[in-house]
Amino acid sequence: MEFAEHLKSSVDIVRVVGEYVRLKRSGAGPRYTGLCPFHSEKTASFSVHSTHQFYKCFGCGAGGDVIKFIMEIERLTFWEALKYLAERHGIPLPKRNDLADEEARQRGGIFEMHELALKIYRDQLFSPAGSDAREYLKRRGLSRPTAEEFSLGLSERGGQSLVRVFEKQGFSHEDMEASGLVLRRTDGSGFYDRFRGRLMFPIHSESGKVIAFGGRALGEGDEPKYLNSSETSIYRKSHVLYNLNRARKALQEAGFSILVEGYMDVIGVFAAGIHNVVATCGTALTSFQVRSLRRHASELVLNFDPDAAGANATEKYIPILIEEGMKLRILQLSGGLDPDEYIKEHGPDAYLDALTKAGGYFHWLADRARARVDRNTPDGTVAIWQTLLPAIQKMPDKIMRLAVVDDLAGYMKMEKSVVLNEVRRSVSGRGGQVSKRQEVLPDPNEVLLLHAMLDSPEARAEIVPVLHQSSVVQRFASRAIFETILRLIEAGETPSYSSVEARLPEPEKERLAALVFADDTLSRDFTVEQAVACIRKLASGERGARRDELRERIRDAERAGDLNTALQLMQALSELERA
Ligand code: UTP
Ligand code: MN
Repeated sequence: MEFAEHLKSSVDIVRVVGEYVRLKRSGAGPRYTGLCPFHSEKTASFSVHSTHQFYKCFGCGAGGDVIKFIMEIERLTFWEALKYLAERHGIPLPKRNDLADEEARQRGGIFEMHELALKIYRDQLFSPAGSDAREYLKRRGLSRPTAEEFSLGLSERGGQSLVRVFEKQGFSHEDMEASGLVLRRTDGSGFYDRFRGRLMFPIHSESGKVIAFGGRALGEGDEPKYLNSSETSIYRKSHVLYNLNRARKALQEAGFSILVEGYMDVIGVFAAGIHNVVATCGTALTSFQVRSLRRHASELVLNFDPDAAGANATEKYIPILIEEGMKLRILQLSGGLDPDEYIKEHGPDAYLDALTKAGGYFHWLADRARARVDRNTPDGTVAIWQTLLPAIQKMPDKIMRLAVVDDLAGYMKMEKSVVLNEVRRSVSGRGGQVSKRQEVLPDPNEVLLLHAMLDSPEARAEIVPVLHQSSVVQRFASRAIFETILRLIEAGETPSYSSVEARLPEPEKERLAALVFADDTLSRDFTVEQAVACIRKLASGERGARRDELRERIRDAERAGDLNTALQLMQALSELERA
């Protein structure tokens, strides 16, 4: 790892990337742009940052440091990319073993710590101290054999049981922290367990190794309800599905997978003898996960909670699923019940029956659209089709597209030729382009503040105490980024783009890149006073003004029929409101 840092500070990413991509400097700033080498595009959405030494494509999402760039473009492993860069820049290379061994050794340790944690948690659940938790399981109808099958456990409230065992086993503090299972106290006085007083759900890799945990609060009002492991070198949230290790065989036999929302749903369905069921672990569904299901079965039934959140997630995931060529049906259970509750109430056979009857996703989308608008007006009809078109456009197969249009026109009692025209028009406009990813719209105050924190020690010295005093960071849209910077500073490190980026989960990495590239003029000239003023503005009313601006733009985009932009803006708005 050391050597990689040394290498990165010795080569210039702009020169390296420049050998593959024609880069143009934008103004006198640190940003260089060009056509992305990782997907086909006509306008440049690929950028390289000369100060912070990273690249980012806002079209396809590719991004990283100079080593990652070489790995991707030359299709090399990490080690090979190091070697390649070192040789080209005359930097002496350490022996391979030093590097490979260190990484492998640490990963091995992290696997061991997870095994140990699983045992510790499990023992606690079945010890006298676990009686309340066992009572809870009983209340929820979860039997002992099922708890054992899923290796459920309990983390004790004191927060020292893992730390003590790990220390006794001789794990270094660095490795302990890298496991994500224990946290360092901010005052540096030692470590404590990440999960405390929670019912523990081990998360396994597809091959069955414990790689993470989800922990459910047991006390009424404990927040958050579910706490999940952070990403580590053995756990990539966006690639893992809960229960895939146990479901694999059943997926192949049944020919379809059932995707549900939560850990408890998986367990409820599985315990009823229906084993082809999985869930994401508290994150949004990704195409990686869809692909790992598709390797086993080409059909999927989406069965989320019948509340608004579940319906919104369903709508959001439909395009991801069909883009990966998944055959898709939607199951929305009656009575406002989630799968776990439904089975408890009506039994496994009723659930199996509902599964068989679950309809195609287009009917679900059409029903949903019809419930929202008045189909008897021309505007209403257009609105319905506009919600359906993005999904139709995503279908990889033309014949399938036409069949769906046919089916839907009948289902909605509409003139087929009208519908066909609409679809032809919208599909011909999409070209071969990768659809534009959702770009984060950064708050200018946060942009300036971030640059001040990364670039100027003087500004940092002024800003950090102010941020610590007030709770304003809690309200930042990019809260995770600023909290990471503050933690780095507390740990006595100088925050840099790469040190911050390395500690962020995937969506936040994207946000960080968007902030850093947001505005070159802002990032170069600012005074410490301006930076401090930003905190004040963020603390006070700016948010309201920004909300109004976003609402205005959403209306404009809707009027112009630009559905994609409108959806992106709505996402930004809901993020703002959540913050
Ligand atoms: P639910 O709140 O529907 O949980 O969240 P559930 O599985 O039905 O749990 P019970 O029945 O109340 O115990 C669905 C999933 O969303 C994630 C978890 O993965 C959960 O299983 N989630 C939810 C979190 O990651 N954090 C939260 O605070 C809440
Ligand atoms: Mn639920």
